[in-house]
Amino acid sequence: MNNTWNSHYHFFDKKKHPPAATLNFALSLFQKNETAQQNKLAIDLGCGNGIDTFALLQENWHVLAIDKQNEALLRIKENTPEEYSKQLQLDLNPFENIKKLPACQLVNATFSLPFCHPNGFDKLWYHLTNSLTEKGIFSGHFFGINDSWNSNTEMTFHTEKQIKDLFTNFNIEYYKEIEKQGKTISGKEKYWHVFHIVAQKK
Ligand SMILES: C[S@@+](CC[C@H](N)C(=O)[O-])C[C@H]1O[C@@H](n2cnc3c(N)ncnc32)[C@H](O)[C@@H]1O
Repeated sequence: MNNTWNSHYHFFDKKKHPPAATLNFALSLFQKNETAQQNKLAIDLGCGNGIDTFALLQENWHVLAIDKQNEALLRIKENTPEEYSKQLQLDLNPFENIKKLPACQLVNATFSLPFCHPNGFDKLWYHLTNSLTEKGIFSGHFFGINDSWNSNTEMTFHTEKQIKDLFTNFNIEYYKEIEKQGKTISGKEKYWHVFHIVAQKK
């Protein structure tokens, strides 16, 4: 999978991809709520080569960017302008090893949580939801059970009911369940079943 992630980063580097729509929506909620706090902290879980991380830095967030791939963090380090370096902390850590996350106002997980091992997901979700302060926001994605990668026992898939249960202590602000035939980054045909979610902790 390491080489696959490296080609993923390379593809996104070349395409100059915009930040995730879910992250943009979450940021617009902060603007709408005029949450003008100093030193706002966002955790970018499974940050990859940092498209979302950079968007957050530009919006004056402090960011803890976590990924299990050293290559991802090295790319972010190399590409972070000096002016943002004090706002950024990088953590090379698989989701399954996370013992605690710091208090934060935003957890962003763009297309990364499905890659958490199912045995580690509940613990990760516990730490993630605990780290969010009151009115904190989650933005990210989950894979549904009809996804064509659903036979991969290293990955986590959810039913609609399971997703709703994860968010009982949240108000869901953006919810899209999309099923469609499409392609992976490497051009392979794939059936996508993805939940796109932004939710605010009660
Ligand atoms: C599909 S990429 C998304 C990257 C980035 N969030 C984006 O939207 O461009 C998934 C990322 O999650 C990371 N990842 C996968 N499994 C992980 C795990 N168990 N622990 C931590 N990071 C993981 C990968 O290294 C990869 O960078």
